[in-house]
Amino acid sequence: MNRKGIILAGGTGTRLHPSTISVSKQLMPVFDKPMIYYPLSTLMQAGIRDILIITTPEDNAAFKKLLGNGKSWGINIQYAEQPRPEGIAQALIIAEDFLEQCPSALILGDNLFFGGQMLNSLRASVDQIRGATIFAYQVSNPSDYGVVEFNEKGKAVSLVEKPEQPASNYAVTGLYFYDAQAPAYAKSIKPSSRNELEITDLNRIYLEQGMLDVQRLDGGATWLDTGTHRSLHAASQFVSVLENRQGIRICCPEVEAFKQSWISKDELAALAQPLIKSGYGAFLLKVAQSGKA
Ligand code: G1P
Repeated sequence: MNRKGIILAGGTGTRLHPSTISVSKQLMPVFDKPMIYYPLSTLMQAGIRDILIITTPEDNAAFKKLLGNGKSWGINIQYAEQPRPEGIAQALIIAEDFLEQCPSALILGDNLFFGGQMLNSLRASVDQIRGATIFAYQVSNPSDYGVVEFNEKGKAVSLVEKPEQPASNYAVTGLYFYDAQAPAYAKSIKPSSRNELEITDLNRIYLEQGMLDVQRLDGGATWLDTGTHRSLHAASQFVSVLENRQGIRICCPEVEAFKQSWISKDELAALAQPLIKSGYGAFLLKVAQSGKA
Protein backbone atom coordinates (compact mmCIF):
# COMPACT_ATOMS: atom_id res chain seq x y z
CA MET A 1 0.00 0.00 0.00
CA ASN A 2 1.34 3.41 -0.92
CA ARG A 3 2.18 5.71 1.94
CA LYS A 4 0.09 8.89 1.98
CA GLY A 5 1.20 12.28 3.26
CA ILE A 6 -0.47 14.72 5.65
CA ILE A 7 0.65 18.30 6.15
CA LEU A 8 -0.79 19.93 9.25
CA ALA A 9 -1.02 23.64 8.53
CA GLY A 10 -3.58 24.66 11.13
CA GLY A 11 -3.15 26.67 14.30
CA THR A 12 -3.52 30.35 15.03
CA GLY A 13 0.17 31.26 14.92
CA THR A 14 -0.18 33.37 18.04
CA ARG A 15 3.58 33.50 18.58
CA LEU A 16 3.86 35.32 15.24
CA HIS A 17 1.20 37.94 15.91
CA PRO A 18 0.51 40.50 14.51
CA SER A 19 2.08 39.06 11.32
CA THR A 20 -0.29 36.07 11.31
CA ILE A 21 -3.57 37.77 12.24
CA SER A 22 -4.74 37.87 8.62
CA VAL A 23 -2.33 35.40 6.97
CA SER A 24 -1.77 31.75 7.83
CA LYS A 25 1.66 31.14 9.36
CA GLN A 26 2.36 28.38 6.85
CA LEU A 27 1.83 30.81 3.95
CA MET A 28 4.39 33.30 5.26
CA PRO A 29 7.59 33.37 3.21
CA VAL A 30 10.73 31.58 4.31
CA PHE A 31 13.09 33.68 2.21
CA ASP A 32 11.90 33.11 -1.38
CA LYS A 33 8.91 30.80 -1.12
CA PRO A 34 5.89 30.10 1.09
CA MET A 35 6.66 28.08 4.22
CA ILE A 36 4.47 25.16 3.15
CA TYR A 37 6.66 24.53 0.08
CA TYR A 38 9.34 23.12 2.43
CA PRO A 39 7.34 20.34 4.12
CA LEU A 40 5.60 19.64 0.81
CA SER A 41 9.00 19.18 -0.85
CA THR A 42 10.10 16.87 1.97
CA LEU A 43 7.12 14.58 1.36
CA MET A 44 7.79 14.66 -2.38
CA GLN A 45 11.46 13.75 -1.76
CA ALA A 46 10.15 10.71 0.11
CA GLY A 47 8.26 9.75 -3.06
CA ILE A 48 4.83 10.55 -1.59
CA ARG A 49 2.28 11.73 -4.15
CA ASP A 50 -1.06 11.64 -2.32
CA ILE A 51 -1.14 14.51 0.14
CA LEU A 52 -3.79 15.89 2.46
CA ILE A 53 -3.36 19.47 3.65
CA ILE A 54 -5.15 20.27 6.88
CA THR A 55 -5.82 23.98 7.50
CA THR A 56 -8.07 26.14 9.61
CA PRO A 57 -11.48 26.76 7.98
CA GLU A 58 -10.57 30.45 7.45
CA ASP A 59 -7.30 29.73 5.63
CA ASN A 60 -8.44 26.83 3.44
CA ALA A 61 -9.22 28.97 0.37
CA ALA A 62 -5.80 30.63 0.42
CA PHE A 63 -4.00 27.26 0.41
CA LYS A 64 -6.18 26.07 -2.46
CA LYS A 65 -5.34 29.23 -4.41
CA LEU A 66 -1.62 28.59 -3.93
CA LEU A 67 -1.43 24.82 -4.42
CA GLY A 68 -4.61 23.74 -6.25
CA ASN A 69 -5.06 20.00 -6.77
CA GLY A 70 -1.34 19.40 -7.35
CA LYS A 71 -1.90 17.96 -10.83
CA SER A 72 0.60 20.23 -12.59
CA TRP A 73 3.24 19.06 -10.08
CA GLY A 74 2.42 15.39 -10.71
CA ILE A 75 0.83 14.94 -7.29
CA ASN A 76 -2.66 14.74 -5.83
CA ILE A 77 -3.48 17.32 -3.16
CA GLN A 78 -6.65 17.18 -1.11
CA TYR A 79 -7.79 19.46 1.68
CA ALA A 80 -9.38 19.09 5.09
CA GLU A 81 -10.07 21.42 7.97
CA GLN A 82 -9.15 21.41 11.64
CA PRO A 83 -11.72 23.78 13.19
CA ARG A 84 -9.80 24.33 16.42
CA PRO A 85 -6.14 23.76 17.36
CA GLU A 86 -6.82 20.56 19.27
CA GLY A 87 -3.48 18.89 18.77
CA ILE A 88 -1.21 17.35 16.18
CA ALA A 89 -2.47 13.81 16.80
CA GLN A 90 -5.96 14.96 15.77
CA ALA A 91 -4.60 15.25 12.20
CA LEU A 92 -4.56 11.43 12.00
CA ILE A 93 -8.23 11.30 12.96
CA ILE A 94 -9.16 14.02 10.46
CA ALA A 95 -7.17 12.16 7.80
CA GLU A 96 -8.63 8.72 8.50
CA ASP A 97 -10.92 8.53 5.43
CA PHE A 98 -8.25 10.02 3.17
CA LEU A 99 -5.71 7.42 4.36
CA GLU A 100 -7.92 4.42 3.48
CA GLN A 101 -5.88 2.16 5.80
CA CYS A 102 -2.60 3.18 4.17
CA PRO A 103 0.52 4.00 6.15
CA SER A 104 1.15 7.73 6.48
CA ALA A 105 3.79 10.42 6.81
CA LEU A 106 2.67 13.39 8.87
CA ILE A 107 4.67 16.60 8.69
CA LEU A 108 4.10 19.92 10.40
CA GLY A 109 3.59 22.82 8.03
CA ASP A 110 6.18 24.97 9.82
CA ASN A 111 9.06 22.47 9.88
CA LEU A 112 11.96 22.76 7.46
CA PHE A 113 14.24 19.82 6.72
CA PHE A 114 17.30 19.89 4.51
CA GLY A 115 20.35 17.77 3.72
CA GLY A 116 21.65 14.57 2.17
CA GLN A 117 21.23 12.47 5.32
CA MET A 118 17.61 13.55 5.37
CA LEU A 119 17.04 12.07 1.93
CA ASN A 120 18.54 8.72 2.95
CA SER A 121 16.50 8.61 6.16
CA LEU A 122 13.33 9.49 4.27
CA ARG A 123 13.83 6.75 1.72
CA ALA A 124 14.54 4.14 4.39
CA SER A 125 11.51 5.14 6.51
CA VAL A 126 9.03 5.25 3.66
CA ASP A 127 9.39 1.51 3.07
CA GLN A 128 8.86 0.56 6.70
CA ILE A 129 5.25 -0.57 6.79
CA ARG A 130 4.91 -1.67 10.44
CA GLY A 131 5.35 0.57 13.47
CA ALA A 132 6.36 4.22 13.49
CA THR A 133 9.51 6.19 12.72
CA ILE A 134 10.32 9.57 14.23
CA PHE A 135 13.43 11.75 13.98
CA ALA A 136 15.48 13.24 16.81
CA TYR A 137 17.66 16.31 16.43
CA GLN A 138 20.03 17.86 18.96
CA VAL A 139 18.95 21.36 19.99
CA SER A 140 19.97 23.98 22.56
CA ASN A 141 16.37 24.44 23.80
CA PRO A 142 14.90 20.93 24.24
CA SER A 143 12.24 22.14 26.70
CA ASP A 144 10.41 23.76 23.78
CA TYR A 145 9.81 20.38 22.13
CA GLY A 146 8.97 16.74 22.63
CA VAL A 147 12.16 15.21 24.06
CA VAL A 148 13.45 11.68 23.59
CA GLU A 149 15.78 9.96 26.02
CA PHE A 150 18.17 7.22 24.89
CA ASN A 151 19.79 4.50 27.00
CA GLU A 152 23.50 3.64 26.78
CA LYS A 153 22.79 1.31 23.85
CA GLY A 154 21.25 4.22 21.94
CA LYS A 155 17.72 2.85 22.25
CA ALA A 156 14.87 5.31 22.90
CA VAL A 157 13.48 4.76 26.39
CA SER A 158 11.25 7.77 27.11
CA LEU A 159 9.33 10.52 25.36
CA VAL A 160 8.12 13.64 27.17
CA GLU A 161 6.34 16.69 25.75
CA LYS A 162 8.03 20.00 26.65
CA PRO A 163 9.72 18.78 29.86
CA GLU A 164 10.98 21.34 32.36
CA GLN A 165 13.93 19.06 33.11
CA PRO A 166 14.76 17.47 29.74
CA ALA A 167 16.40 14.04 29.92
CA SER A 168 18.45 14.80 26.78
CA ASN A 169 19.08 17.51 24.19
CA TYR A 170 17.27 15.52 21.52
CA ALA A 171 14.06 17.13 20.30
CA VAL A 172 11.50 15.15 18.34
CA THR A 173 11.07 16.82 14.94
CA GLY A 174 7.73 17.44 13.27
CA LEU A 175 7.95 14.53 10.82
CA TYR A 176 6.35 11.23 11.71
CA PHE A 177 5.93 8.00 9.75
CA TYR A 178 3.10 5.75 10.92
CA ASP A 179 1.60 2.41 10.01
CA ALA A 180 -2.12 1.98 9.32
CA GLN A 181 -2.96 1.77 13.04
CA ALA A 182 -2.25 5.45 13.76
CA PRO A 183 -5.82 6.87 13.36
CA ALA A 184 -7.21 4.21 15.73
CA TYR A 185 -4.46 4.86 18.28
CA ALA A 186 -5.01 8.63 17.98
CA LYS A 187 -8.68 8.12 18.89
CA SER A 188 -7.64 6.39 22.11
CA ILE A 189 -5.62 9.39 23.36
CA LYS A 190 -7.09 11.71 26.01
CA PRO A 191 -6.58 15.49 25.69
CA SER A 192 -3.62 16.87 27.66
CA SER A 193 -3.66 19.70 30.19
CA ARG A 194 -3.41 22.19 27.30
CA ASN A 195 -6.48 20.45 25.84
CA GLU A 196 -4.67 18.95 22.84
CA LEU A 197 -4.29 15.43 21.50
CA GLU A 198 -0.53 15.29 21.88
CA ILE A 199 1.57 13.67 19.18
CA THR A 200 3.98 12.65 21.93
CA ASP A 201 1.21 10.51 23.47
CA LEU A 202 0.65 8.78 20.13
CA ASN A 203 4.38 8.16 19.74
CA ARG A 204 4.52 6.79 23.28
CA ILE A 205 1.94 4.14 22.34
CA TYR A 206 4.34 2.90 19.64
CA LEU A 207 7.32 3.17 22.04
CA GLU A 208 5.58 1.06 24.68
CA GLN A 209 4.80 -1.62 22.09
CA GLY A 210 8.43 -1.70 20.99
CA MET A 211 7.29 -0.44 17.58
CA LEU A 212 8.96 2.98 17.54
CA ASP A 213 12.10 3.57 15.49
CA VAL A 214 13.84 6.80 16.52
CA GLN A 215 16.37 7.97 13.96
CA ARG A 216 18.93 10.50 15.10
CA LEU A 217 19.62 13.22 12.54
CA ASP A 218 23.10 14.65 12.81
CA GLY A 219 25.48 16.81 10.80
CA GLY A 220 24.11 15.54 7.47
CA ALA A 221 20.72 17.06 8.08
CA THR A 222 19.30 20.40 9.14
CA TRP A 223 16.03 20.83 10.98
CA LEU A 224 14.59 24.27 11.62
CA ASP A 225 11.22 25.32 12.87
CA THR A 226 9.66 28.66 12.19
CA GLY A 227 7.23 29.24 15.02
CA THR A 228 8.60 32.57 16.29
CA HIS A 229 9.77 35.72 14.54
CA ARG A 230 13.36 34.92 15.51
CA SER A 231 13.28 31.31 14.26
CA LEU A 232 11.43 32.36 11.10
CA HIS A 233 14.08 34.96 10.40
CA ALA A 234 16.86 32.42 11.09
CA ALA A 235 15.27 29.96 8.67
CA SER A 236 15.04 32.66 5.98
CA GLN A 237 18.69 33.52 6.52
CA PHE A 238 19.69 29.86 6.31
CA VAL A 239 17.89 29.44 2.96
CA SER A 240 19.21 32.75 1.64
CA VAL A 241 22.87 32.00 2.52
CA LEU A 242 22.72 28.48 1.11
CA GLU A 243 20.97 29.45 -2.11
CA ASN A 244 23.17 32.47 -2.73
CA ARG A 245 26.38 30.54 -2.06
CA GLN A 246 25.49 27.64 -4.35
CA GLY A 247 23.40 29.46 -6.96
CA ILE A 248 20.53 27.05 -6.40
CA ARG A 249 17.08 27.07 -4.86
CA ILE A 250 16.10 24.44 -2.34
CA CYS A 251 12.75 22.79 -1.70
CA CYS A 252 10.97 23.89 -4.89
CA PRO A 253 8.08 21.42 -5.36
CA GLU A 254 8.27 21.87 -9.16
CA VAL A 255 11.91 20.73 -9.14
CA GLU A 256 11.18 17.83 -6.79
CA ALA A 257 8.45 16.70 -9.21
CA PHE A 258 10.93 16.87 -12.08
CA LYS A 259 13.60 14.93 -10.12
CA GLN A 260 11.04 12.20 -9.44
CA SER A 261 10.15 12.14 -13.17
CA TRP A 262 6.56 13.03 -12.30
CA ILE A 263 6.72 15.94 -14.76
CA SER A 264 8.71 16.37 -17.97
CA LYS A 265 11.28 19.04 -18.87
CA ASP A 266 8.67 20.81 -20.99
CA GLU A 267 6.15 20.79 -18.19
CA LEU A 268 8.74 22.25 -15.82
CA ALA A 269 9.58 24.97 -18.35
CA ALA A 270 5.88 25.82 -18.66
CA LEU A 271 5.56 26.10 -14.87
CA ALA A 272 8.52 28.51 -14.87
CA GLN A 273 6.97 31.03 -17.26
CA PRO A 274 4.50 32.85 -14.98
CA LEU A 275 7.17 33.06 -12.24
CA ILE A 276 10.07 34.39 -14.30
CA LYS A 277 10.05 37.88 -12.81
CA SER A 278 10.69 36.69 -9.24
CA GLY A 279 13.83 34.75 -10.10
CA TYR A 280 12.17 31.58 -8.81
CA GLY A 281 10.87 30.93 -12.31
CA ALA A 282 14.28 31.65 -13.81
CA PHE A 283 15.72 28.87 -11.65
CA LEU A 284 13.01 26.43 -12.72
CA LEU A 285 13.72 27.30 -16.35
CA LYS A 286 17.46 26.76 -15.83
CA VAL A 287 16.77 23.32 -14.40
CA ALA A 288 14.41 22.51 -17.28
CA GLN A 289 16.94 23.64 -19.87
CA SER A 290 19.91 21.83 -18.35
CA GLY A 291 17.84 18.75 -17.51
CA LYS A 292 19.67 18.58 -14.19
CA ALA A 293 18.39 19.45 -10.73
C1 G1P B 1 5.05 20.18 18.45
C2 G1P B 1 5.09 18.85 19.19
C3 G1P B 1 6.49 18.57 19.72
C4 G1P B 1 7.51 18.65 18.59
C5 G1P B 1 7.38 19.98 17.83
C6 G1P B 1 8.25 19.99 16.59
O1 G1P B 1 5.25 21.24 19.33
O2 G1P B 1 4.13 18.89 20.22
O3 G1P B 1 6.54 17.29 20.31
O4 G1P B 1 8.81 18.51 19.13
O5 G1P B 1 6.03 20.20 17.42
O6 G1P B 1 8.18 21.22 15.91
P1 G1P B 1 4.35 22.58 19.21
O7 G1P B 1 4.42 23.02 17.79
O8 G1P B 1 2.98 22.19 19.61
O9 G1P B 1 5.00 23.54 20.16
